[in-house]
Amino acid sequence: MSKRHTGLAALGACLLACSIGLSAEPIGDPAQGQAAAAICASCHQADGSGMNIPGAESWPRLAGLDASYLAKQIRDFKSGQRSSPTMQAFAQMLSDEQIPHVAAWFASLPAPSLPSAEAHAPALLERGRQLATEGDWDNYLVPCSSCHGPDNLGAGAVFPAIAGQHPAYIRDQLLNWQKGSRQNDPQQLMATVAARMSADDIQAVAAWLSTQPGATEQKPE
Ligand code: HEC
Ligand code: HEC
Repeated sequence: MSKRHTGLAALGACLLACSIGLSAEPIGDPAQGQAAAAICASCHQADGSGMNIPGAESWPRLAGLDASYLAKQIRDFKSGQRSSPTMQAFAQMLSDEQIPHVAAWFASLPAPSLPSAEAHAPALLERGRQLATEGDWDNYLVPCSSCHGPDNLGAGAVFPAIAGQHPAYIRDQLLNWQKGSRQNDPQQLMATVAARMSADDIQAVAAWLSTQPGATEQKPE
């Protein structure tokens, strides 16, 4: 057990290097996905920016996320492996051939700047920054960025960008992993992370990540 704890950071690095989960993903054509993506716009918005809806199901930003990651999630919703009554219905409207194209369409859109409507206390943001970039070694928590990439902007097809994602969505996903209602992560990597977080930590990291740029080009010089 303790071996697993200390091995977590190394495991993240190995996953990157070993490219687990990169089974021959068909490469989609954004132009072919655009038409089918129209039905998604009522929630995810035409520009893929989604919407933060505190107190209800938020609509995640899809724009600029990795195409293979998006395709995997859509297939998981379709099969029920990732449980979401809302998304299952829409995923089932897509044929298996359409999925990579729709995923490529959203991946091709520029990551939006999120409206920073929610004001967060400085202490909360500082705790969130610490968790995301330094981790909390007392609680065996490696920094989010050790898997989610430098600046938490994503790493390959396995680790999605979480910077510039809506805070209520990030929080809900972490809570889902704690409850066991999201179970589609490879090797339960996220379930392990979420299990080590307090409700306050979840709030903090979700708030801080949402204030961060969702793409490299948005970073101030
Ligand atoms: C009625 C609103 C609604 C519509 C329409 C909708 N979605 Fe979603 N979508 C959601 C919600 C809510 C979630 C978060 C589900 C959860 O909590 O797991 C989500 C999650 C997703 C995710 C996971 C994103 C991530 O970062 O893991 C993808 C991919 C996605 N939707 C794609 C689509 C596509 C493609 C369509 C159109 C075919 C679509 N959605 C239509 C509400 C919607
Ligand atoms: C050991 C590697 C690892 C670490 C560390 C890690 N994650 Fe993840 N995370 C993943 C993987 C893998 C996924 C993709 C799961 C899937 O495919 O469904 C993921 C997905 C997520 C998602 C879902 C994103 C989406 O678009 O649906 C959120 C939110 C998230 N992580 C937050 C965090 C936060 C916050 C931290 C730091 C406290 C963190 N993660 C640390 C591996 C990790």
